[in-house]
Amino acid sequence: MASMMQPQIILLKEGTDTSQGKAQLLSNINAVTAVGDVVRTTLGPRGMDKLIHDDKGSVTISNDGATIMKLLDIVHPAAKILVDIAKSQDSEVGDGTTTVVLLAAEFLKEAKPFVEDGVHSQNLIRSYRTASTLLDKCVESGAKVVLSRLAIGDLATQYFADRDIFCAGRVAEEDLNRVAAAAGGTIQTSVLGTCEIFEEKQVGGERFNIFSGCPSGRTATIVLRGGADQFIEEAERSLHDAIMIVRRAVKNSTVVPGGGAIDMEISKYLRQHSRTIAGKSQLFINSYAKALEVIPRQLCDNAGFDATDVLNKLRQKHAMQSGEGASYGVDINTGGIADSFANFVWEPAVVKINAINAATEAACLILSVDETVKNPKSESAQGDAAAGAMGRGRGGGGRGRGMRRR
Ligand SMILES: Nc1ncnc2c1ncn2[C@@H]1O[C@H](COP(=O)(O)OP(=O)(O)OP(=O)(O)O)[C@@H](O)[C@H]1O
Ligand SMILES: [Mg+2]
Repeated sequence: MASMMQPQIILLKEGTDTSQGKAQLLSNINAVTAVGDVVRTTLGPRGMDKLIHDDKGSVTISNDGATIMKLLDIVHPAAKILVDIAKSQDSEVGDGTTTVVLLAAEFLKEAKPFVEDGVHSQNLIRSYRTASTLLDKCVESGAKVVLSRLAIGDLATQYFADRDIFCAGRVAEEDLNRVAAAAGGTIQTSVLGTCEIFEEKQVGGERFNIFSGCPSGRTATIVLRGGADQFIEEAERSLHDAIMIVRRAVKNSTVVPGGGAIDMEISKYLRQHSRTIAGKSQLFINSYAKALEVIPRQLCDNAGFDATDVLNKLRQKHAMQSGEGASYGVDINTGGIADSFANFVWEPAVVKINAINAATEAACLILSVDETVKNPKSESAQGDAAAGAMGRGRGGGGRGRGMRRR
């Protein structure tokens, strides 16, 4: 099922918002929240699709965060930052685009009451950045084994050892390939082998030359068929995501438990950490921790589960002293909770690390803007030129720094 929507989101007509300071900040947060609300229902295996049509009459049905963000004609300068982080997440890791948008929106939503109460955004930014830095270490706590064909230096060995990760360097390529194959990976080779069967086959309206039983062939062709172009395009995008995920998992064997498990675990870790901090930043880090819960909550909402109930159970599990509840996430089949690791709901750590860091940076960037200045010259210019007023706010450390006001 897909929900119909207009392609253009006019959050605020350009030029109408002349507010400054707190009012501007709140208006930017509202704009970003509106964009987050568009993609939130697409998260997870039970997520819904969006049907996007433009004035030229072309229709796209998609569940892919990056595709939706790209097609929405977002005119609000602050909200455009979310389009940029979705794009950069897509090109850097190929997945997690809905997650990154949702997280950035949630970080800001949690910051909103503080901004309303007159907390200076620089204080929030400082706490958010601290929380994000702590995460790298924690995200990797889900890792089990790291294998490398090259030698792993002393420093890296120590780094992994400190994080309780087993690592092995100089692993024979053959062994690595076997592991890759076991992980379901496809490895492209330039070597052509022989094949057992060559046949020409009619599939639908087209004829295909099929080589099968290739002993050294490691590539596969997937023929997608469907009733309408839109379905085929969306199937191709889904497959692309799936292949990218496998590729990531093969290249970078650090995985974390999915289904919101890693998000709950980091959230718990940050809450515990915040108790050791005096002053207001304790509250800010707590808000950041709470925002991370949006992932399991949205997974529940999209599947029609009672999110409050599931989240309570998850919090309890993750609070266990023994740490045995650390990989518990949403069980999409039963509406309860389950060990995501045991259920093979895994995500490459790099997808999560990238998403959390980019979302944090985007939130901090938006928090650091207290006025949007429009260049009158750009008024006549079309499209992208207008974005110049805002700077390109791609996610990632330190980008867009020129905009900070203090
Ligand atoms: N079988 C499952 N059970 C529970 N959670 C799952 C399952 N499969 C995927 N998930 C969770 O769904 C989320 C990913 O959803 P989705 O692929 O829709 O969004 P995304 O990866 O952030 O964005 P996109 O794929 O659009 O780029 C992750 O949090 C993942 O752990
Ligand atoms: Mg995905």
